[in-house]
Amino acid sequence: MPTILITGGHSGIGIECCKLLASTYNYNLILAGRSPEQMEIFAKELRKSYNVKISVLAMDTSSLKSVRTGAAQCLKMIVNGEIDSLQAIICNAGIRLNGAVSYSTDGYEETIATNYLGHTLLVELLIDSIVNNGRVVFTASGTHDPDTADGKLMGVAAEYDVIGLAHTGKDGSKPISAGKLYATSKLCIMLYAYELDRRLKKVGSSIASIAYDPGATSGTSFLRSMPKPVRWLTSTAFIHWVMKRSGITMGDIVFSGKSLAKVAVAPDFVNSSGKYFQSNDFRLTERRSSKLSYDEERALKLWSDTKTLIHLKPNEGSPILR
Ligand SMILES: NC(=O)c1ccc[n+]([C@@H]2O[C@H](COP(=O)([O-])OP(=O)(O)OC[C@H]3O[C@@H](n4cnc5c(N)ncnc54)[C@H](OP(=O)(O)O)[C@@H]3O)[C@@H](O)[C@H]2O)c1
Repeated sequence: MPTILITGGHSGIGIECCKLLASTYNYNLILAGRSPEQMEIFAKELRKSYNVKISVLAMDTSSLKSVRTGAAQCLKMIVNGEIDSLQAIICNAGIRLNGAVSYSTDGYEETIATNYLGHTLLVELLIDSIVNNGRVVFTASGTHDPDTADGKLMGVAAEYDVIGLAHTGKDGSKPISAGKLYATSKLCIMLYAYELDRRLKKVGSSIASIAYDPGATSGTSFLRSMPKPVRWLTSTAFIHWVMKRSGITMGDIVFSGKSLAKVAVAPDFVNSSGKYFQSNDFRLTERRSSKLSYDEERALKLWSDTKTLIHLKPNEGSPILR
């Protein structure tokens, strides 16, 4: 049985996604993340409940070294026959920071490093291990679109220049705000997901690249860096009502998690490469993303700047993505 690798699978919407992948779809899973103890607790639960193979892989997506080590470990497991090839890679880990800007071990702004750069390196290193008709799914966010209520709520996405974003605030100027950095990291993901789709199609690959927005979802750890009263407020029925009335895309932890699993493996999404899906008010539908996300010229620049930032070595990366 092919395996699915997911980042951020042990919490929030990742939990419901993994449960569905293991139960209904019967896939073996690799939980990749920076909290091995928490992942192992969830892995034990999944193994016991669903009788599938669950591997735990240490991988901090904000660190290029950690992504390289984790990806190498995954390849070793495939070569050793410990696990089968990958059916899908689900790039789901994400953070929304609060307060002063911080930088990853590589010296890149942490939101951009965690949500975007680490995942692009992961795809480069593991895409050749995906089976025919497999998928790469990116958990994006409606906040990437500055023309929507979601985008305005979080902090309108910046005119991205990923190299500038990664180094924001380092030259002594005011850093881009945390909300804007989050929204822009997701805009980068959208551009990358579409560019990946174009490149895969160009070389005749059957692998799909799909973007997915779970909607504003309470009950996850997503707002953990926010003050307690803010976290409490966002979980109340009143705020949900206000958000819905304001046009915010509304997720639900179970529905949104299950929808992520479906986008990654369900036959209904077989011809979905280059598409964007959204969970909103218990409906999973295909949507148009932001105008900027379809800009192919910007996507090309982002693609090449991203390669510079992740320091892809000559012997690294997939030949189909060059
Ligand atoms: N909740 C929402 O309203 C909402 C809306 C739109 C999109 N999203 C997106 O949905 C995805 C899942 O978020 P969630 O709401 O389920 O929140 P969550 O419960 O906080 O899940 C985020 C996951 O990302 C992992 N993660 C964070 N930093 C990491 C790193 N450096 N390396 C590896 N893993 C890391 C976390 O692991 P740790 O336990 O180790 O921190 C956690 O498992 C994210 O991409 C988020 O941006 C969420």
